[in-house]
Amino acid sequence: MDKYRDFFHEYVAGYDTESASIWRKHEHTIRVADNCRALAADLKFNAFNTDLAELIGLFHDIGRFEQWRVYQSFSDDKTIDHADLSVKIVKDNGILAEHPDFELFCTAIFYHNKFKISPKITDDRALTFCKLIRDADKLDIIREFVTGDLQLPQDGETYSIKALNEIAAHKLLNRKIHVNTNDVNLTALALFNDIYFDYTKRCIREEFLIEKIVELYIKSDPSQTNLFRQLERFIKEQY
Ligand SMILES: [Fe+2]
Repeated sequence: MDKYRDFFHEYVAGYDTESASIWRKHEHTIRVADNCRALAADLKFNAFNTDLAELIGLFHDIGRFEQWRVYQSFSDDKTIDHADLSVKIVKDNGILAEHPDFELFCTAIFYHNKFKISPKITDDRALTFCKLIRDADKLDIIREFVTGDLQLPQDGETYSIKALNEIAAHKLLNRKIHVNTNDVNLTALALFNDIYFDYTKRCIREEFLIEKIVELYIKSDPSQTNLFRQLERFIKEQY
C-alpha cells in the first residue's frame, strides 16, 4: 500500500499545496481511505479486498486537484463531474492498470458521487465496493460539516421547502432539481438518507452527527427550528 500512498502524495505535490482547497482535499482523501479500511475490517474483508477498498478511497477524488487547478471551483454542476475526471486521470496515469480488479476500481470511483449507483451494476462484489466508497466518503463529508471545514447555508434562501420535504421522505437530494446554489452544503442532511453499512451508522450514532448537524442548521436559520427538529426525527428513523 505504501507505494500507492507515496504515488498519491507525489501526485498532489504537483499542485499548489499552499492552497487551502488543495490541502483540504488531500486531507479528505487520506481520511476517506482510512474510512474504507475501517469499513472493510468491519465487513471482515480479506487482506486483498481490504487493500482494494483502501485504494478506491485513495484515488476516488484524484480528479479534485485538476478540477481546482483548471476551474478554482469544486462545483461539479458548474465545472466538470470530478468522479468522471478521477477515472480519466486514473486511466491516463496507468494507476492500478495492472490490478486484476481495475474495472471494478474505476466503476467504484465513477459512482462514488453519482445520485444513485446504476442498476446496471449487478455484480454483488462490485456493488459492495461502490457502496463502501459512498459510505466512506459521506462519513467524512458529514464530519467535515460538524468540524466546520464545510459551511452550511447561512439563510433560508439557499434551500427550498420542497428539498427539505424530500429529505423527510428519506430521499437523497438531487442537486440539479432541488438546490439552487453551487455546492454540496445543502445536501448535508440528505447524506444521512443514503448510508448503507452498520459501521457507518454506528459512527453516526456514537458521534451524534445527526444531532450536531441539525444544531448547525438551527443556528444558521432559527426561524426553521421546528422543521429541522421534524427532519431530525425522520432521519433518525433509519438509525
Ligand atoms: Fe468525491
